[in-house]
Amino acid sequence: MNVLVYDNDEQIGIAAGNYMCGQILAKPNSVLGLATGSTPLKPYGHMIKLFKAGAVDFSKVTTFNLDEYCNLDVNDKNSYHTFMYENLFNSINIPRENIHFLDGNSDDLERECREYEKRIKEAGGIDIQLLGIGSNGHIAFNEPSDSFQRWSHVVELKESTIKDNSRFFNSIEEVPTRAVTMGIGSIMQAKRILIIATGENKADAIKQLIDGNVTPKCPASVLQFHTDVTLMLDTGAASKI
Ligand code: PGA
Repeated sequence: MNVLVYDNDEQIGIAAGNYMCGQILAKPNSVLGLATGSTPLKPYGHMIKLFKAGAVDFSKVTTFNLDEYCNLDVNDKNSYHTFMYENLFNSINIPRENIHFLDGNSDDLERECREYEKRIKEAGGIDIQLLGIGSNGHIAFNEPSDSFQRWSHVVELKESTIKDNSRFFNSIEEVPTRAVTMGIGSIMQAKRILIIATGENKADAIKQLIDGNVTPKCPASVLQFHTDVTLMLDTGAASKI
């Protein structure tokens, strides 16, 4: 793994934004796997800046988001759909039809998950997957469990994730308890993976990811088996390695 440590999240934003855009410059019709959460905000901000400066063109890019809540309107301020439009898509020239999300409101979630995998395959697979990591070691909404879930699936969120995400909602009761997420296999099939993490609350998960046992109890640890992983960490997230 390529582990890079930065002084702060500003620097990670620039480095990660450059890394993602570098992929697009090398292959204009790249397929990007994208993440939500606080950590990608600065990288997305830098990607927008590069687009506005004329340095990168998203017109041939395709995206697949990692996950989405169930039973939350896509236009809700807390949906990942809204997050992505507000923090990236509305500010770049990606065609709307090239943007893909799992539909957490589908009346057949199993079929929705199967079709999402099919759409990724038909797009040629993910060239680069951007990932955050949960304080409990989750990637996307693949929560700690007794086995790795391979493909996109429905998940019951862990208490720790609901608590972490409640900061965006009016109360913890409003946080959806189910979500749809790409699986570990979907993520591992990406050609390249970029993980970003900031803050000391991620330090244990990062340590486990890098040199812990590979176990579904820390889903991110499976990335030890991927051949092209770059980690961008601030000093807090890197404090235990
Ligand atoms: P965060 O979430 O960027 O908001 O910390 C990361 C994650 O849970 O994957």
